[in-house]
Amino acid sequence: MITASEYTFKILRYDAKEPEAEPFFETYRIKVLTGLTVLGVLLRIRDEIDGTLSFRSSCRSAVCGSCAMVINGKIDLACRTQVATFGSNTIVLEPLPNFEIIKDLVVDMTPFWNMYEKIKPYLIRTSADPEKEIEQSEEERSRIDQFVNCILCASCYGACPVLARDPEYAGPAALAKLERFALDSRDERPASALDAVNDEKGVWGCDTILRCIEACPKDVRPTDSIVSLRKKLIKHKLFGKGIR
Ligand code: SF4
Ligand code: FES
Repeated sequence: MITASEYTFKILRYDAKEPEAEPFFETYRIKVLTGLTVLGVLLRIRDEIDGTLSFRSSCRSAVCGSCAMVINGKIDLACRTQVATFGSNTIVLEPLPNFEIIKDLVVDMTPFWNMYEKIKPYLIRTSADPEKEIEQSEEERSRIDQFVNCILCASCYGACPVLARDPEYAGPAALAKLERFALDSRDERPASALDAVNDEKGVWGCDTILRCIEACPKDVRPTDSIVSLRKKLIKHKLFGKGIR
């Protein structure tokens, strides 16, 4: 049976265009039907109560990666989080950590995209162009399965304690993506491509405490990727091994 319960939403408000104003929590009380998601509530608040509230969303189905935020202290996608799953009728929403706030729940993703771009997240080939598509065996495809599921939501970036103290650290999503291409049977980047992450701003900066794995809504395991890249680098530097 569909029922409605009253919830209190406390949402962090801030506008970078008014830097003198301090961030504060605005309270909204709203009746929520069973099954409604946090994103569903945000859309209702914006449409029915307060048109100034800012947040990002697009697909509403955990695919576009745009609605990651902190929900009652835990990073998750607002569109896949049902309000009724919380034991309490008070829900606190905050923007992703480790980013500058633009407005309310909207953060400036520029550092995330800059790191992502740096690792060259696309197939790099050195052979002559093939006449037809390059096939992969099931086993070869299975090596990159988890990484293909990444929706670039930056939840891992927001959860990373290294980024909290060093904004120049490459971050879990970019490093996981580098591992994805290092594992891809079609990619031909040389092992020297790993040199760009062979320092404390790259794979050696990770604390390996798995916060990124806990935060990822798509079961990608960035810490495992970072450890794997470390092993590749050691094999390359000490024994001249290739990237795979
Ligand atoms: S690795 Fe997971 S948490 Fe990080 S950007 Fe990709 S989907 Fe989001
Ligand atoms: S709206 Fe696309 S992931 Fe949530």
